[in-house]
Amino acid sequence: MNKKDVIIALDFKDRAETMDFLQRFTDEKPFVKIGMELFYGEGPDIVREIKDRGHSIFLDLKLHDIPMTVKKAMKNLALLGVDMTNLHCAGTIEMMKYAMDGLTEGALEAGREKALLIGVTQLTSTSEERMQKELLINASINDCIVKYAENAKEAGLDGVVCSPLEAAMVKDACGKSFLTVTPGIRYPGAEVQDQVRVTSPADARAIGTDYIVVGRPITKAEDPVAAYRKVCADFLG
Ligand code: C5P
Repeated sequence: MNKKDVIIALDFKDRAETMDFLQRFTDEKPFVKIGMELFYGEGPDIVREIKDRGHSIFLDLKLHDIPMTVKKAMKNLALLGVDMTNLHCAGTIEMMKYAMDGLTEGALEAGREKALLIGVTQLTSTSEERMQKELLINASINDCIVKYAENAKEAGLDGVVCSPLEAAMVKDACGKSFLTVTPGIRYPGAEVQDQVRVTSPADARAIGTDYIVVGRPITKAEDPVAAYRKVCADFLG
């Protein structure tokens, strides 16, 4: 697994669509993200199958439960062979530490390297207003994101998911080696779809983020392999 990389979001409805897409890649094996839709529809076999094809996998299930449940679930994800996975930082530092323990136990049992564990701070769909009014968090959303990132670091997590615009803030608070994984990547002039704050691959590179998650600019492109190569060239240089 590379230290910096482009992760393609496999936001497809089922295995058939996913495999149709992946079989276009004959010369390279992109790092891919499997989300809830595909995982809950197809089950863990989809992870094993894509892993067997040689791809690194970010399993995006955003766990949030009592610490022991999360630990046991993480152990099973480690046994599945995922390379990166995530949880909600809102589950507390204790839950995050248990999650790390689960991943470590699973990695030892499987004889694999431990998967990277990434925290979700505040979802980009949560506005500051809703966070304050409904969740009763009496802080600015940026302060909340930084505090959750600091908690994640304290628990031993490898990094957080954030918008490219928040990545600099997180790096300032948690240090350069604390990973940032950033969606919301678009080329200037392209359709932004439901994303609001977007950044180009080159700008994401300049900001210093570690992994970018790119979905539709690659999956809906006329030539997805060419689109993937362009994103890689612009982000990785
Ligand atoms: O198609 P697009 O490039 O917008 O896809 C971005 C991917 O990143 C999707 O899988 C989306 O669910 C995910 N994501 C996001 N914003 C977050 C967290 C995850 O867009 N804050």
